[in-house]
Formats: sequence, C-alpha cells, structure tokens
Amino acid sequence: MEGDVVSVQPAGVAKVVARLTQSSLGLKALVAVTGLGLVAFAFVHMAGHLQMFALLGGQEGYNQYAHKLQSLGALKWAARAGLLALTLVHVIATLKLIARNRSARPIGYASNHWLTASVASQTMRVTGPILLFFIIYHLLHFTALVVSAQGYEAMEYMLRDGSNLVVGDAYGRMVQAFRDPLLTVVYVLAVGLLGVHLAHGISSLFQTLGLTNSTYRPALATAGPLLAGLLTAGFAVVPLAILTGVIQ
Ligand code: HEM
Repeated sequence: MEGDVVSVQPAGVAKVVARLTQSSLGLKALVAVTGLGLVAFAFVHMAGHLQMFALLGGQEGYNQYAHKLQSLGALKWAARAGLLALTLVHVIATLKLIARNRSARPIGYASNHWLTASVASQTMRVTGPILLFFIIYHLLHFTALVVSAQGYEAMEYMLRDGSNLVVGDAYGRMVQAFRDPLLTVVYVLAVGLLGVHLAHGISSLFQTLGLTNSTYRPALATAGPLLAGLLTAGFAVVPLAILTGVIQ
C-alpha cells in the first residue's frame, strides 16, 4: 500500500494502466481520462472544420490548415498513435467495467437515481459501438480515401501563400462529399449520436474525476449536455452548409 505511489514512477504508463484495470474505480478513472482526451480532440477537430466557412478561411484557409497538419511528420504519427491508444483504452476499460458490473450487480436496489443512471449508461453502451463503427468508416473515407472517395486523390489545389505548393484539395473533398445528401445524413446522424453519448459522458466524467461537489453538481450536470450540443452543432453545420450551398 505505502509503496503504491512511489512504485508508479518508474513503472511507466503501460504499467500504471494495467494496475488501474484491477479495480472498478481504476477502470472508471481510465474511461474518464481517455474520454476527456477524446472530447478534447473532438473539439479541436470540430473547430478546424469551421474554417471551411469563407469568413473563417474558405478554400485557401482550410487547405493551408490541412496542409500544415499533413506536414507535421513524426508529430502527426505520434498524435495518431495517441488517439488510437486513447480509443483502445477507453473501449477496453468500458468492456471490463461492464463485465465487472454484471458479475456484481446489486439485486433489489432500484432507487430512481439508479434507474436514471442505468438508462443513461445503457444508451451509452449502444451509442458507443455505433460511434466506433462510424469512426472506422470515417477514417476509411477521409484519411485512407478508400470508401465513398471516388476522385479524391486527383483533387489538388495550389496554395496562394506565395509557396505555389500543390497540395491535396481537402476543401474540395469535403464539398464533394457533402453534396451527396446520403453522406450528409450519415454524418449528421453520427454526430447526433456523438452528442447523445457525450451529453451523459461529459457530466459523468466530471463526477468520476471528483470535480463535483454539491455546490457545482447542478452546473456541471448542465455543462455535459451543453458542451455535447455545441460539439454536435459545430460538426453538423459544415455538411449541412455544403448541402444547402452556403459553402460551395
Ligand atoms: C461532420 C463530422 C466530421 C467531418 C466532416 C470530419 C471530417 C474529417 C476530415 C476531412 C478528415 C481528414 C483530414 C485530412 O485531410 O487529413 C478527418 C479526419 C479524422 N477525423 Fe473527422 N470529421 C467529422 C467528425 C469526426 C468525429 C466525430 C470524430 C471522432 C471523435 C472524428 C475523428 C477523426 C479522426 C481520428 C481523423 C484522422 C486524423 C488523422 O488523419 O490523423 N471525426 N475528419
């Protein structure tokens, strides 16, 4: 017991993670911390897309931004590896937690609070796997360019920043994608599900990380749905603006 904190230091992240998987509390902390990392990524990703609007960047601004990201080299791969690790730990820790809860379910304890929490977490167990499938599809679509991506490879753009560099037309690919109503519906539904997942998820992670006390609890309970709604709206607005011709 006494040696716990000291022995964590040289053990390395993987060892700490392995140790956390030994208890329900540790698993919850893993789900919360990795969830927080994924939410932070989602906000940055969403904000990046808003540059598709002429006022915030348009074709030149968005393509410069996409090119900068693509040129990050080793840093880009490190970020990708980090995201993959966050996703894997989030999913595996959730599955372990579900398995643990199943084998230790309280019988005959059904206060209203328990029921509400249960409905919310049941919903997360449905929206989570669907989101995972969406993300795999999404990576095959826009990053690997292998599904629903006809002609994307050939779309190029010459930067007007004085470099005259010919880069992939990330803006053009987005516009081509979301001129298709079916793709727009798929993406808007997916980010809607992301909102449902996070409406409970964000509030719940605040709680797990001990950021709630009786004074702040109501505000933090509202913060979850509010942040989730902002994220969904920010993601959905670009495909919808393309479909309706606001972005062209
Ligand atoms: C309307 C919703 C979304 C749109 C239009 C969208 C668009 C894009 C585009 C265009 C790329 C490729 C960037 C490039 O040119 O390299 C991309 C990459 C990516 N997106 Fe999204 N995205 C959306 C939602 C999401 C969501 C909800 C997630 C997960 C939280 C997500 C996760 C990723 C990841 C992990 C990448 C790969 C980044 C990389 O290449 O390393 N996206 N997205």
